[in-house]
Amino acid sequence: MVRIILLWIMSSLLCLAANAQVIHNGIPWFDEQGNIINAHGACIVEDGGRYWLFGEYKSDESNAFPGFGCYSSADLVNWRFERIVLPVQKDGILGPDRVGERVKVMKCPKTGEYVMLMHADDLGYNDPYIGIATSPTINGDYTLHGPILFDGKPLRHWDMGTFQDTDGKGYLLIHHGPIYRLSDDYRSIEAKVAHVEGMGESPAMFKKNGLYYLLTSNLTSWERNDNYYFTASSIEGPWKKQGYFCPEGTLTWNSQSTFVLPLRRDNDTIPMYMGDRWSYPHQASAATYVWLPMKAEGEKLAIPEYWDAWNAAKAEKKLSIQGREQVHNWISDKKGDCLEREFDGGRIAVVGKTDGNGGYATISISYANGKVLDKLFVDFYSKIPDEGLRFVSKNYPKGKYRLRIEVTGTQSAWYNKKKTIRYGSHGYLVNVTKTIEMEADV
Ligand code: GAL
Repeated sequence: MVRIILLWIMSSLLCLAANAQVIHNGIPWFDEQGNIINAHGACIVEDGGRYWLFGEYKSDESNAFPGFGCYSSADLVNWRFERIVLPVQKDGILGPDRVGERVKVMKCPKTGEYVMLMHADDLGYNDPYIGIATSPTINGDYTLHGPILFDGKPLRHWDMGTFQDTDGKGYLLIHHGPIYRLSDDYRSIEAKVAHVEGMGESPAMFKKNGLYYLLTSNLTSWERNDNYYFTASSIEGPWKKQGYFCPEGTLTWNSQSTFVLPLRRDNDTIPMYMGDRWSYPHQASAATYVWLPMKAEGEKLAIPEYWDAWNAAKAEKKLSIQGREQVHNWISDKKGDCLEREFDGGRIAVVGKTDGNGGYATISISYANGKVLDKLFVDFYSKIPDEGLRFVSKNYPKGKYRLRIEVTGTQSAWYNKKKTIRYGSHGYLVNVTKTIEMEADV
């Protein structure tokens, strides 16, 4: 009997350990304190045996800069919120009612300092700068020094990314083409080393087997599009335009590139694509992340399949959520309509359809007595139709709980930077196909 119990405990622990490694794309993630992981336009730095995730700590109400946040993790799945490493400043390029985006951090090999670069702007995107901040520790208070300078002048650009080469040199990647090499202390710009004709926005770069890959998106604001890439055997170029890295029409599996993290696995390095699935205006809770391993073989770069769940340790596809299913096929766009279901603790998952007429739902979990434990927005909009996981709850102890999905009668819709093109949803539909109840951790 004791042996059986021991075996059961061991297999449950193994199962927990295995499951704790799963990355679920396109759904809200929770940190170790149970708060939504809020790190958009992000990057990851591997340092001191941990992964450090930096991102835009968005709000659900406005696009004004609320600070850059930092999380850390040993496995890319379980994240601890460290702190807001750069808060709203009293004034200057990241003062009140400014925009702060695409934060990128690198450790400067020469000085040992952590250098943060970002896009800073006004709310109308008419006053762009590339800003620089530094900190002696990775998760410390970053001091903002203002705009980074080239030939004594600030760079007036918006979307940006960074790349650190194997020789320790740091690069700043700019929308629509320019690549700048940073000085040895990473605090200023030494030279413009390339101009990549045909580049778009949201640049991200990595190198594998001596070949450089540069990812970029088209100019469609928060809307997704088919991102594409370039290759070069030297960072100075010539850069060769290669085409899409996800199947055409999937709109980069419904995401926009922000960074590529080289995953060191089994004597190989697998580039991990990091993308944003934006959701304006509720970016803090309803915008999600798409992280997927990429296949890079010579000039061919691809994410041939969308995995809604994958094992970060092995970079392998996982079967998606399994458990007790209830089919609902429930569709409504009437504000206040709701779908409810009871469950006995563990996790509850929501599977649903999104399309061009989708709107926001609120999803809440409460005790049987009505006390609400968690509540957040989930977006049922996507430009191209999709069916998949929309939400997986936290793991609740055994008990009586109620899941409630309510139609808000609001939608994700916005204008481009010049305020000339309207993007987003044309309806308020919430479309839930099924819910799945899981006893154990996933
Ligand atoms: C995107 C850009 C984002 C953000 C957004 C605002 O094109 O990549 O970082 O600036 O526009 O519309």
